Amino acid sequence: MSVPVITCKDFFCTESHPQPVGITIFGASGDLTSRKLLPSLFNLFLKGLMPENFYILGVARTEFTDETFREKVREVLSGDADKVQDFIERTFYIQGEYDSLSLYSDLKWKIRDLEKKFMTNGNKIFYMAVPPALYLPIVENLGDLGLTSQENGFSRVIIEKPFGFDLDSANELDKHLHATLKENQIYRIDHYLGKETVQNILIFRFANSIFEPIWNNQYIDNVQITVAEDIGVEHRAGYYEHAGLVRDMFQNHMMQLLSLVAMEPPAFFDADEIHNEKVKLFRSIRPFPLDDLDSWFVRGQYGRGKIGGKEVVSYVEEPGVNPHSRVETFAAAKFMIDNWRWSGVPFYMRSGKRLSKRVSEIIITFKRVPHSIFTQLPAKSIPPNILRINIQPEEGIVLSFQAKHPGPKLCMSTLTMDFKYAEVFGIRPPEAYERLLLDCMLGDQTLFIRDDVMRESWKIFTPLIKKWESENESAKLDIYEAGTWGPSSSDELIKKDGREWYNAL
Ligand code: BG6
Repeated sequence: MSVPVITCKDFFCTESHPQPVGITIFGASGDLTSRKLLPSLFNLFLKGLMPENFYILGVARTEFTDETFREKVREVLSGDADKVQDFIERTFYIQGEYDSLSLYSDLKWKIRDLEKKFMTNGNKIFYMAVPPALYLPIVENLGDLGLTSQENGFSRVIIEKPFGFDLDSANELDKHLHATLKENQIYRIDHYLGKETVQNILIFRFANSIFEPIWNNQYIDNVQITVAEDIGVEHRAGYYEHAGLVRDMFQNHMMQLLSLVAMEPPAFFDADEIHNEKVKLFRSIRPFPLDDLDSWFVRGQYGRGKIGGKEVVSYVEEPGVNPHSRVETFAAAKFMIDNWRWSGVPFYMRSGKRLSKRVSEIIITFKRVPHSIFTQLPAKSIPPNILRINIQPEEGIVLSFQAKHPGPKLCMSTLTMDFKYAEVFGIRPPEAYERLLLDCMLGDQTLFIRDDVMRESWKIFTPLIKKWESENESAKLDIYEAGTWGPSSSDELIKKDGREWYNAL
């Protein structure tokens, strides 16, 4: 008989049901809609978390009718045929060019009809699954037709990243959006915040009393955050060639992970309180020294190599990529947080494409014991305790510690206490977009990015990006073999502090 190592007993659960709502997706014929948005909405529907009254209206340039769009929707859903049919009957489509006024007047009428038919009380969500250059024109057109007014029901807009490409452009976009929308109508999405294990960081830190007292520079030696992917740039060269890894991953996902690990306890579990703490934290991050940037921030680009035993091409050989491109597909950096809690504790962060494996994890290494009572074993030979928060693909938490190996001799082993979501809860965590779409319907902005949080993050990266772009050819960019853990300069970055990266096996 197997005995469960960890028992799980729910003692607190809140589940809120959204009000009736109509969701309009701009970019409805695109990848994001079919891979993430429609399946997530359907899963919420299956779980009974969609409101009783809702409709989904797709908008795009592709020629579809309601019927042909529904066929496309059907292809991406799987599950009970009756449920699929039920869901599909609530999906509609409208075709048009995003800059044509006639699209928006058609849209207004269609929404008016659907609101009557589905009794959605005027509540609307607009999802911008379109290229960033279209966010503003679409929002302005919606505003001109009164569709962003909140006089009769709510009107919310979900905006995908990238939100600007540096501080100035992000400010500019924000200023113009605010001419039409209030901040509580803007939902800037960062899908990492919708991942279960990421949300669990706050519960882990603030619903347990044993971790917070040691969550500081007295007990923690360093923190590593790795978000590694084995995929390359795929078909996204058009976007990636203008973005690069620092904009694509660091400015948003990585900084959000950092914020949850390092922020102070918020006064309440409330969107504004949490965002306030993030802003405070980002302001405490030490600016990178531009005259010695390479010692703190390493950039790389993948060359050829092998992934899963198969040869893969280098970044510059990928379709759509400039053969002389200087865009980074990897970055590793050392962040210092100048506040009382973290003074002196380095946060090493790295992310890249075409790395050895897909893994996202946060590794907290505690300080070694101050003194060894085991005379043959110096304190520096006793491994430190390590807490690994696995965000994906094996969501869970692992704590390592030393224990006596059974037997008459004094032998020590490092053991782990291991919790895996899939084993304990018997389910895989839901898709991040499910949670975020639900929260938007509920009007909860906790897991979205407030304007000042976004701005503070851009303030950190904009000077670096500008420097690299102005140096162009001469900016340091190290080529690494695909299928490895990045360039050797990344190892050197951490080795010179006497530490090394924990690479997932
Ligand atoms: C996106 C980036 O935001 O996140 C992609 O634009 C990246 O480049 C992706 O591949 C990673 O997300 P996930 O959920 O697969 O880790």
